[in-house]
Amino acid sequence: MTVPTLEVHLSPDEAGAALRRDARAGLSADEKWLAPKWFYDARGSELFEEITELPEYYPTRTERALLHEHAADIASASGADTLVELGSGSSEKTRLLLDALRAAGTLRRYVPQDVSKSALEAASKEVAAEYPDVQVHGVVGDFTTRLHQLPGGDHRMVAFLGGTLGNLIPSERAEFLRGVRDVLTVGEHLLLGVGLVTSPSVLVPAYDDAAGVTGEFNRNVLRVLNRELGADFDVEAFEHVAVWNARDEWIEMRLRATKKMVVHVPELALDVHLDAGEEIRTEISAKFRLNGIASELSDAAFALAECWTDPDERFGLLLAEAV
Ligand code: AVJ
Repeated sequence: MTVPTLEVHLSPDEAGAALRRDARAGLSADEKWLAPKWFYDARGSELFEEITELPEYYPTRTERALLHEHAADIASASGADTLVELGSGSSEKTRLLLDALRAAGTLRRYVPQDVSKSALEAASKEVAAEYPDVQVHGVVGDFTTRLHQLPGGDHRMVAFLGGTLGNLIPSERAEFLRGVRDVLTVGEHLLLGVGLVTSPSVLVPAYDDAAGVTGEFNRNVLRVLNRELGADFDVEAFEHVAVWNARDEWIEMRLRATKKMVVHVPELALDVHLDAGEEIRTEISAKFRLNGIASELSDAAFALAECWTDPDERFGLLLAEAV
C-alpha cells in the first residue's frame, strides 16, 4: 500500500481569517447570514453523516443508487485515470466510482478534496488501505478557491456529488463551473450530482427531519463561532427553520432567535443584536431543472455527455465533457 499524502491549502490561519471575514460580514448585515462551509468541524461532519441516514433525507441514498447503477457507464465514458472528488467528506460513495474505474483498468490516482481535515484524513487512510494500487493524494481546502492547486493530468474526472453545487448562489455557481473548466483540458470530465426540483412536501422534511438531527447540524455553526471566535451564542435559544423558496427554487435553512439577545464576538470586537424572532440564514440548497443545469454547463464550456435520474426524478447525475 502507498501512504496517502495530505496537502493542506487551508492552513488554520487562512481558515481562521476566512471565518472571521465571513462572520463579520454576515453578522453585521441587515439580513444576517453565515456560510454553510462553517458547519463542518469534526462534529458537524459527523452530524451530516447522520443526516444522510435519516428516512427523510433522500438525496444521499438516491445518488448512491444512481452511482451503483451507472458507475460502469461513467467509467467507460470518462476513461479516467484520476478521480478528483470535491467536497469528498467521508468518501463513501466514491468506492462505487473507484471500483468501476479499477474494473475498467484505467484507475491510478484518487484526489479527495474537503474543508474538513479530520474527515479527509480518515477517508484517505481507508481508501489507501482498500485500494493498494491507487495513489491517494488528499487536498484540504475550499473547492471554490483552490482548484488551480489540483494535480495535473489529462484523463481526470472531477466529481462534485451530493448536491453541494446547490450551496452556491447562481453567480457563484457560474464562477465555480468556469473555474473547474479552466483547470481541465478538452476531453476531461466533470461528474455532477444535483438535487432536482420536486414537491415541497418531499423537500422540506428532508431539511427538517422529525428526529431533529438537521436542527443540531444547523445550530452547530453557532458552536463553531463560540469556539473559534470566543462568541457567546446561547445555542439552545435558536430554532431550526427550513423553508422552500419557490421563486429561487432553493431550500433556505435559518436559525431563529427565540428571544431578544446581544451576542458578543470578542475575536471580532463585535456585538450582535438580535430581536426575538430574527433569523440568520445559514444555508441555501438549490434544486435544479435538467434544462437549466445543462445550459449552465454549456455556458461554462462543458457538453453534457450523459444524464441519469431516479424514477421519481428527485436527483440527477450528470456527466459533462470539457469542450
Ligand atoms: C452537503 C450541501 C449537499 O444541501 O443537502 C443537509 C447539506 N444541509 N441537510 C444539502 C445539508 C441540511 C447538504 N449538502
